Amino acid sequence: MKTLVIGGAGYIGSHMVRCLAEAGAEVAVFDDFSTGHPQALGPGVEVIEGDLLDAAALDHALTASCADVVMHFAALSVISDSSSDPLRYYRHNVGGTLQLLEAMRRHDVRRLVFSSTAALFGAPTQLPITEDAPTAPVNPYGWSKQMAERVIADACAAHGLRAVALRYFNAAGAHCSGEIGESHQPETHLIPNVLRAAAGLGPGLTIFGDRHATHDGSCVRDYVHVDDLCRAHQQAAQALERPELPAFQTYNLGSGRGYSVHDIVRAAERVVGQPIQCQLAPPRAGDPPCLVADSARARQLLNWTPRHTEIESIIASAWRWHRAQRY
Ligand code: UFG
Repeated sequence: MKTLVIGGAGYIGSHMVRCLAEAGAEVAVFDDFSTGHPQALGPGVEVIEGDLLDAAALDHALTASCADVVMHFAALSVISDSSSDPLRYYRHNVGGTLQLLEAMRRHDVRRLVFSSTAALFGAPTQLPITEDAPTAPVNPYGWSKQMAERVIADACAAHGLRAVALRYFNAAGAHCSGEIGESHQPETHLIPNVLRAAAGLGPGLTIFGDRHATHDGSCVRDYVHVDDLCRAHQQAAQALERPELPAFQTYNLGSGRGYSVHDIVRAAERVVGQPIQCQLAPPRAGDPPCLVADSARARQLLNWTPRHTEIESIIASAWRWHRAQRY
């Protein structure tokens, strides 16, 4: 079985490529390097450079790689950008997925693992969020992923595709080698920004809001280690071969534990062994107060259990990467 990783040079995609290679699996990468990093791919990785919106480039990737499974990580994912430039988000995240599905159909590739998101759930009232919770996105990013899931589900029903959508909560941490990790430009995510502040880069961490309906007024999120996400993808790919499971499956991927921004700052202070400068700013538009996963279905059907259960160890892996940061 050979896997084509779309967006394999990005944060989660590059960890997936490493994980597959470490398991001895055959893998190829398709990436346009618009946000991904060539340095995140080790020597010897088969790379096909191209744009997801370019049908000919996708045809070439599927022909050249001879892949029988596709993992699709390539998407725009900054929630605030999605509100200011929604059409770009729909073009890339919905249009890109559509192009990919059409190319897979032309090449008779019938296995897909899709990166979806907890942003589908909007600002839920029931916590933790179960797999059957109603979806109600509150920003174009969440809507774009919901629409992409819909397109995939319909392709499964009509065209013999089998697919899994993995709804990530907050991906965090870095590979144990410290050689690859999270690097966005600009960086908007909490843990990298906390560690930048710890390293004395910039004026300190900005905490967005202190009046959210949470235990300390800052937003609560469910942080799940990127290695655990990658293992879930491997188990999802196996689940595609189980005829008793539906052609289109969705799973929540989270640890089931919520940490506020202040909790993360305190845990990071324990990891780095020094205080971290913080300042308060108004809430970020569209930030739900609390997102915590119930991943019961992934545990039952994929036999998936997160191994990184301590927030300090997740942050420590990110810190190791941050100090050696190569790109
Ligand atoms: N935060 C700060 N300061 C920062 C960065 C973030 O206070 O410098 C806060 C945010 O306001 C939020 C929390 O930390 O309350 C987490 O923010 P992130 O940007 O790290 O993550 P989000 O929860 O906003 O979004 C992430 C992914 C999305 C995905 C979502 C699902 O970026 O793609 O998780 O839970 F949809």
